[in-house]
Amino acid sequence: MPPVPVPAEIRPADVDDAAGIAAVYRPYVTDSVASFETVPPDAAEFARRMTAEPRLPWFVACRDGGVVGYAYGGQHRSRAAYRWSVDCSVYLSAAERGAGTGRALYGRLLPVLRDLGYVTAFAGIALPNPASAGLHTALGFTPVGVYRSVGFKAGRWHDVGWWQLPLQELPAEPAEPRAWSPR
Ligand SMILES: CC(C)(COP(=O)(O)OP(=O)(O)OC[C@H]1O[C@@H](n2cnc3c(N)ncnc32)[C@H](O)[C@@H]1OP(=O)(O)O)[C@@H](O)C(=O)NCCC(=O)NCCS
Repeated sequence: MPPVPVPAEIRPADVDDAAGIAAVYRPYVTDSVASFETVPPDAAEFARRMTAEPRLPWFVACRDGGVVGYAYGGQHRSRAAYRWSVDCSVYLSAAERGAGTGRALYGRLLPVLRDLGYVTAFAGIALPNPASAGLHTALGFTPVGVYRSVGFKAGRWHDVGWWQLPLQELPAEPAEPRAWSPR
């Protein structure tokens, strides 16, 4: 019998992890439509994103000392009334999939987003992506709708499905979301 998969260790990420994160993400830019980016960001660009305002949480999954995945919160839209909404995303190295690491990363990320004061989490998923749709559904996200043919990559037009998850009851007067710190 194959060994029962064990999720990787999860910890808050800081800019020292940027190179490992860039390496995990790179194939999703170069060889896949899971990401709509076309030029792989380098470590410096990831460090910039990790420390951009508003400062949002990043977590890495580590196995044998190396980064094998990450999840993070990103600004949903820049206009002021959107500031309690947050996007989230998660990427694993190919060998890491199916071991519970995606669930473990979101298991750390989502409560932190709630504690910082975010009210609703959103995820945009280039379709089809049964693993990502399955992960988000398993964590309680519900489908919102589909942007049809919203991206063109690898010679084809692609749809993006949106999912959302309430992080807390809707406050009548929401407090300002707080900045995240990895320490
Ligand atoms: C999407 C991704 C992060 C899922 O992480 P994972 O560690 O493989 O998923 P887990 O093992 O934690 O599974 C969690 C749940 O997701 C669902 N799931 C995972 N893989 C699935 C698959 N291939 N098909 C359907 N559902 C799947 C299951 O419901 C699973 O539930 P369980 O915990 O009860 O078994 C991972 O497959 C990945 O990195 N994919 C490529 C990058 C990507 O597409 N990122 C998302 C961009 S929107």
